[in-house]
Amino acid sequence: MTASHISRRQMIVASGIVVTGLFQADRATAQSPNTSANDAGDLIFRTTDPRNAEPPLDKLVQSWITPTDQFYVRSHAPNPVIDPKAFRLKIAGLVRKPLSLSLDDLKQHPEHTVTATLTCAGNRRIEFNKQAKVGGVQWEAGAIGNATWTGVALADVLKQAGVQDGARHIWFDGLDDVPHEGGIIPFGASVPIEKVMEGEQGIGALLVYAMNGEPLTPDHGFPLRTIVPGYIGARSVKWLGSVTASAETSPNHYLATAYKVVTKTDPIDWSETAPIYRNVINAAIGTIEGQAVAQAKLSAGTVALKGYVMPSGLVGAKVDKVQLSVDSGKSWGVAELTNEEDAYCWRLWKANVTVTPQSKELIVRANDSKGAFMPARVPWNAKGYLQNSWYRVPIEVI
Ligand code: MTE
Repeated sequence: MTASHISRRQMIVASGIVVTGLFQADRATAQSPNTSANDAGDLIFRTTDPRNAEPPLDKLVQSWITPTDQFYVRSHAPNPVIDPKAFRLKIAGLVRKPLSLSLDDLKQHPEHTVTATLTCAGNRRIEFNKQAKVGGVQWEAGAIGNATWTGVALADVLKQAGVQDGARHIWFDGLDDVPHEGGIIPFGASVPIEKVMEGEQGIGALLVYAMNGEPLTPDHGFPLRTIVPGYIGARSVKWLGSVTASAETSPNHYLATAYKVVTKTDPIDWSETAPIYRNVINAAIGTIEGQAVAQAKLSAGTVALKGYVMPSGLVGAKVDKVQLSVDSGKSWGVAELTNEEDAYCWRLWKANVTVTPQSKELIVRANDSKGAFMPARVPWNAKGYLQNSWYRVPIEVI
């Protein structure tokens, strides 16, 4: 997460992108709720209503910054249609001065651009099915992406509202209508106030209006979303409508109940278990000899692999090692990390391995500077979250 902070005037002078972007934000209102740039992209739709899609892994590992039209989409309801001119973000709860802020009001705060990797807690869920079927979107390893996010620090906006001493958690509520138990609820989350205040500039959580230098697309939360670097994607609420300071965690279903690692789903399990906040370390193989991993029929000899690795969301975590095995984990070689390092960001890696007719699978695993590592196996959980066991690709070597 690198923060660049320049004034709005400098930004306009320095880059045409932001100026263009402001005009595009208006045009986006004319779009129907379910269209976006992703219609033209390479995404594989796991469901179309709501829109849940991931890129093919061979495309995903081509660039450190994931192009927006190749960035996974995870939505629980249709995209709400929001008029950016009428839009107001409400700041309420334990604050001295409740606020109702237009996008222009928000943009009076210093602007930050941060690069951060976003991933769904359900990334690689499909692998749990080998133990027992799990419901939910059947993600392979593509529910992850790295983007630049431009917006303002939530900490600055909370300062403007005057957060009271008793506030411990900051709730986010989206403007989407998610069907739930016969009714309709918004998608919501909360994060501890300490996370919001993280870093010298207090950019542990951002109120974001641009992704990769362009206004957010409808799929990614237009006109405003939160981004919480290092936390699971579910805490980065899209189509953000309100921010509430509270002594308690959010009562919203997606914080209070869903997004927990439980083996059963009875009420006792749910209430005994804490919500997931931080990402776990993860890695995957994206290409074999430059091809999609599904085509894994190989000739004996040296094989070139490429993939991604993301450190855990622990503060200061850096990828330590990415390791590969062609003999079911008996011996390991080390991959080369191929791009710069940035906090809360993934890295791409490449490696050459030598396969023989005895090689039955390629395996990747990783560990980070904070002691987090990918285990050989992850215990099954009912919602299929945090699958970060060794990533295996079956191969046939002739
Ligand atoms: N915010 C709202 N309002 N509604 C949602 O369904 N999905 C969450 C989060 N924010 C969601 C949301 C989940 S589970 C994830 S993983 C990320 O958004 C995905 O963000 P993306 O679609 O921009 O990749």
